[in-house]
Amino acid sequence: MWANLASGRSSCRLSVDKMERLTPFFFPIARLIVMRKLSISMAGNKSLNAANKAKEDEFYTELSDIENELKHYKQHFKDKVVLCNCDDPRISNFFHYFSYNFEQLGLKKLITTCYKSQERDLFSQNNSERAIWLEYTGDHNGNRVPDPEEIGINYLKGDGDFRSQECIELLKQADIVVTNPPFSLFREYVAQLMKYNKKFVIIGNQNAITYKEIFSYIKANQLWLGSTLSFAKFRVPDYYEPKPTRFWIDETGQKWRSMGNICWFTNLDIAKRHEEIILYKSYNEEEYPQYDNYQAINVNKVADIPMDYDGVMGVPITFLDKYNPEQFEILGIMASTTIDSLNFGYPYVNGKKIYARILIRRRQPSASTYPQPEETTLMAAEKQEGYGKE
Ligand SMILES: C[S@@+](CC[C@H](N)C(=O)[O-])C[C@H]1O[C@@H](n2cnc3c(N)ncnc32)[C@H](O)[C@@H]1O
Repeated sequence: MWANLASGRSSCRLSVDKMERLTPFFFPIARLIVMRKLSISMAGNKSLNAANKAKEDEFYTELSDIENELKHYKQHFKDKVVLCNCDDPRISNFFHYFSYNFEQLGLKKLITTCYKSQERDLFSQNNSERAIWLEYTGDHNGNRVPDPEEIGINYLKGDGDFRSQECIELLKQADIVVTNPPFSLFREYVAQLMKYNKKFVIIGNQNAITYKEIFSYIKANQLWLGSTLSFAKFRVPDYYEPKPTRFWIDETGQKWRSMGNICWFTNLDIAKRHEEIILYKSYNEEEYPQYDNYQAINVNKVADIPMDYDGVMGVPITFLDKYNPEQFEILGIMASTTIDSLNFGYPYVNGKKIYARILIRRRQPSASTYPQPEETTLMAAEKQEGYGKE
C-alpha cells in the first residue's frame, strides 16, 4: 500500500509502512493530509530530479538533534507563536517536536508552512499541486496528543516560498522561527528574519559563518552559534545519488547523509554564551607569532588563547562555539581572498598560508607587562601582491 506523502520538493514516495517506522508520530497527520487529497503524485520526472539534485536542499533533521538543541531554550517559548517555515509537516521533525511539546513549552500557537516547487511546469500533470500551512493551538480534547482534528490545514495561494507575501504575513505573526532552512538560500533566509526583527533558532552550514552578511551579524552580536554542533546524520530523499563517503542506506531503504560542519544559529540568549573560556597559557613570542599580513598574533587552538595578551589575536573559527561577548570582542575575520572592512584575507605566518581565523580581543585588559601592538590596521605587507590569495 502506497501513499504519496511527498511535497513537490521532497518528492519522496514513502510507503505507509515505511513512513510509520520512520516517523510514527506524523502518521495521523500524513494520513489526514492524504485523505484530504492534498498529496501530489510522485514527481517521477527527470527534470525535477535534476533540479533537486542541483540544489540538494532536502536534508531532514533528526528529532534527537532538535531535542538536544531546543532544551537550552525552553524559557523562551512560553506564550510564543512559533513558525517553522521550511517544513513539510509530513516529514519535518520540527513540527513533531513543537506539536508534541506544545503544552510543556507553554506555546501560544504553532504555524508550519510546507514548500512546493516553484517550477510548476514540472508538475503540470498534477493540478492538485498546492502548498499548505498548518496551525496548531494545542490539545483540546485532553489526550495531550496533537490529533488530526486539532490541526488546522490551510491552503496557500502560492508555493510556500518563505519569501512570498503570504508566507511573510505568517512570519509577521511569529515570535520565534525554528527550522532547518534550505542551505542554498541561507543568506536570504537570515536577511528576511533580520528585516522582520524575528527571534530564531535555525540550522546552517558552518561555512556560512564566513559569509560577509552572516559574519557582520555575528560581529555585531545580533546572531551567534547555538549550543550543539556537528550533526551526525540527516535523512535525504530517495532521488539523492549515493556518495562514496558520509552516505548510507538503512535496512528500511531510507537514504542518509552525515555532515560534520553543521551548526545552529540563533539570536536567543543561551547559558553557554555567558560561560567564560578558562585560559591558562601565557603569551610568548615564539608560540604566538605575528601574522605577515595583519597586526595580530596567531593562536592555533582556542584553549591556547593566552590569558595575558591584550592585543588582537587570530583564533580558529571554532572559537565561536565558546564565544562569550563579555569576555572577548570580535574584530574581524581572515577567511577569504576578498579583503573588505571585516575580512582581512587569509592569514599568513612566515610566508605560509594557514587556516581561517577570527580576530578577537579581550574585553578586560589583563595586567600584562608585554608590549602591545597599536590599534589594528592592515599592514603594508597585506597590500603586496600575493598576500591573502589562494
Ligand atoms: C534542509 S531542508 C530541511 C527540511 C526540514 N526543515 C527539516 O529540518 O527536516 C530545507 C527545506 O526547505 C525547503 N525549501 C526550499 N526552498 C524553499 C523556499 N524557497 N521556501 C520555503 N522552503 C523551501 C526544501 O524543500 C526543504 O524541505
